[in-house]
Amino acid sequence: MMQNIIVTRRWPGAVEQELRALVADQAEVTFNEDDEPFSREEMAQALTQADIVCPTVTDQLDAEMLRQSDLRTRLLANFGVGYNHIDMAAAHAAGVAVTNTPGVLTDATAEIALTLLLSCARRTGEGERLVRAGQWQGWHPTHMLSTQVTGKTLGIVGMGRIGQALAQKAHLGLGMRIIYHSRSELDASLAESLGATRVGLTELLKRSDFVSLHCPSTRDTRNLIDAQALAQMSENAFLINTARGDVVDESALVEALSERRIAGAGLDVYAAEPQLAAGLIELENVVLLPHMGSGTPETRVAMGHCAIANVKAFLQGSPLPDEIRA
Ligand code: DGY
Repeated sequence: MMQNIIVTRRWPGAVEQELRALVADQAEVTFNEDDEPFSREEMAQALTQADIVCPTVTDQLDAEMLRQSDLRTRLLANFGVGYNHIDMAAAHAAGVAVTNTPGVLTDATAEIALTLLLSCARRTGEGERLVRAGQWQGWHPTHMLSTQVTGKTLGIVGMGRIGQALAQKAHLGLGMRIIYHSRSELDASLAESLGATRVGLTELLKRSDFVSLHCPSTRDTRNLIDAQALAQMSENAFLINTARGDVVDESALVEALSERRIAGAGLDVYAAEPQLAAGLIELENVVLLPHMGSGTPETRVAMGHCAIANVKAFLQGSPLPDEIRA
């Protein structure tokens, strides 16, 4: 019997075609032609119509939807590595397998973390706004002084693939000292090559010139960087977030930034995307990007390949390469 596959957002053309071609004799694929995010009702309906749904970070798949009595979906092949938008317990209870796209976003996301780190330290957003506003009066010795990055201490929260890739780029490229806070310890030779030392969160917050977040959003990490954590950071330190917005208490961050209790922040992710926390946009000492960490053609195509590999395995009844079991 033909299976139904619903893809909730447009993918790069090459991978859309590849998915269609690969499953042609087994499944019909429906892409979201106008690329508008599904409403809650549309998402719930897709789960009753498709055997396989390929959602992404902009979709919310909550317990109520996954408990529908006429649920048809058996695989959620997520286009993306983060899966905090899927109620995993409800999916598993309903017998729905969930896969993601690990590994392929590593360098692109670490590049954006490094971009944000350099941008907020060197005030490139402010500088560009000044030039574009036609207000630049020319070079002078005390103009737009900013924070030098080379040789400073970078604290990485969550030392998975992306944290490690950032550590490597920052240590080898910029001579940064790396300290990290993570559930598991790096093996000794890797830690040595990254110049990385494991420390507790409080020590990391106190010692870091830059704190970069690379942990997933879970019950344990929600608001991990709250007012109290921000108060432990130096007033000369910067916070970088390319993980998930809700790892940071955004109103506490706006307060810390506006009162200059920390030097600045670089953000690619927000708790209620695309909405920004009140007051954030007015601040000069924050660099704001539109969740573009994985946004290179190479990476988005590779994410598509991963999702397709999981769909293919599911249709063949083979083990799913990237099944999330937790
Ligand atoms: C992911 O895959 O989780 C990213 O946030 C999307 O870029």
